[in-house]
Amino acid sequence: MNEKKEVGEKAVEYVKDGMVVGLGTGSTVFYTITKLGQLVQQGLTIKGVPTSEQTKQLAIELGIPLVAFDEIEQIDVAIDGADEVGPELNLIKGGGGALLREKIIAAAAKTFIVVADSQKNVDTLGTFPLPIEVVPFGYEMTVKHIRKLGGSPKLRQKDGIPYLTDNGNYIIDSSFQEITHPRELEKNLNLIPGVVDNGLFVGMADIVITMKDKKLATIVR
Ligand code: A5P
Repeated sequence: MNEKKEVGEKAVEYVKDGMVVGLGTGSTVFYTITKLGQLVQQGLTIKGVPTSEQTKQLAIELGIPLVAFDEIEQIDVAIDGADEVGPELNLIKGGGGALLREKIIAAAAKTFIVVADSQKNVDTLGTFPLPIEVVPFGYEMTVKHIRKLGGSPKLRQKDGIPYLTDNGNYIIDSSFQEITHPRELEKNLNLIPGVVDNGLFVGMADIVITMKDKKLATIVR
């Protein structure tokens, strides 16, 4: 059974004609976007707002019309994956490096839906190293501040050079072991000069579509 496909495709049930839809990034929401592409070919009229250049390309290939922020009032529904889903539907996101645009779009959405296979569900956030987007300037100093908050920060690399986000920034992946107070950590990290945002999504998810005991489960906050 492909859990990512099951949960990803289930989410399209929340998309209705005329909606502006935030399109997430990653291997789970890939199935949502692919299904939406099929529905658009069959006559569904939606406008998409992509959370990454990768998703933008995918949407274009699938024929999903895109819309710019200055043409819309709000996003009706945003659908995205997660790296961890913890208590109260708080999340760690950003494994794919798109956390900043993902958070901007989730915050602009009336309803934020997360699609997550069963392996993403955790009792306490923090096993997955928290992605933190930082500006390249002086990042060595920014990393020291992250360490002072209890993290074990590592600069994300790709092909031997620092990984660059769609916004031209670096990602620091920082393990915090157990994140018992995610709201506090999210705020404290964002107070560090040089930090643009971090992958803690606290109080944002309205609905999580996941699998429990090999069955689809929809959890509403
Ligand atoms: C992208 O930056 C991430 O936030 C993804 O949403 C997250 O990593 C989940 O990705 P998968 O669905 O590929 O596991």
